[in-house]
Amino acid sequence: MRISIIGGTGGMGEGLALRWALNHDILIGSRDIEKAKNTASEYEKRAREYYKDINGSIKGGDNIEIAKDCDLLILSIPYEYARDTCSRISKVVRDDTIILSPIVPMRKGKNGFEYIPMHDNVKSATEIVIENISNRERIVSTLHTISEVKLRNLDASLDCDVYIAGDNINNVKKISELLQEIKGLRPLYIGDLTLAYQIEVLTPMLLNVGIKNKIKHPALRII
Ligand SMILES: NC(=O)c1ccc[n+]([C@@H]2O[C@H](COP(=O)([O-])OP(=O)(O)OC[C@H]3O[C@@H](n4cnc5c(N)ncnc54)[C@H](OP(=O)(O)O)[C@@H]3O)[C@@H](O)[C@H]2O)c1
Repeated sequence: MRISIIGGTGGMGEGLALRWALNHDILIGSRDIEKAKNTASEYEKRAREYYKDINGSIKGGDNIEIAKDCDLLILSIPYEYARDTCSRISKVVRDDTIILSPIVPMRKGKNGFEYIPMHDNVKSATEIVIENISNRERIVSTLHTISEVKLRNLDASLDCDVYIAGDNINNVKKISELLQEIKGLRPLYIGDLTLAYQIEVLTPMLLNVGIKNKIKHPALRII
């Protein structure tokens, strides 16, 4: 697969690139092309050192350039910039590219982490993606509840579930298979995109549980 990660210079992008470069070609995106290239070459070096041999690659480029030709496009950017970034990407992305949103609309409030759409009466991240990228059938929402710290540590098994929402079951299946390539990760389907907010809302709860109970990198599993 050819996987482009918008905002791939952040922690999530790093973890996903390092995990998937074993079998896939990864494109790290940034607003700054030099930063993208340098970051990608550092990630590729680390992946080659760790695995000894990789079938994929990690390259870098401008966010819009890397969105043009890929099988999967990951929106690894903060909620605040989702609307603007998606509307710019929508003009260039291929019709058959699957779009993945891991975006969590969250901030730290005085009582703990909060889910922004509920407090501010604004849209969920998935709704913003749907509104600004054509063809909602290609959108999947997942990865909200994993820890990027564990993801970046290639020795670590994630040992948890991730929940996935999407309107098109074939796209959900393809992404679930890709997620299963990450050690210890079990994707579970929750339903179509109208339910995606239910996954987004889990992350602030999870972080609050971690802080209040002194649990490092908390994760979720359905039993
Ligand atoms: N961190 C986690 O453990 C975790 C877990 C689950 C889900 N998520 C979600 O995954 C996404 C990425 O998480 P992250 O921790 O990697 O995020 P991050 O480090 O805060 O940001 C990722 C990238 O977004 C880009 N960015 C910053 N400001 C921007 C702007 N104004 N316009 C466009 N791009 C901008 C930056 O790239 P450049 O400066 O290179 O352009 C940055 O490296 C977020 O939506 C987060 O909610 C995170």
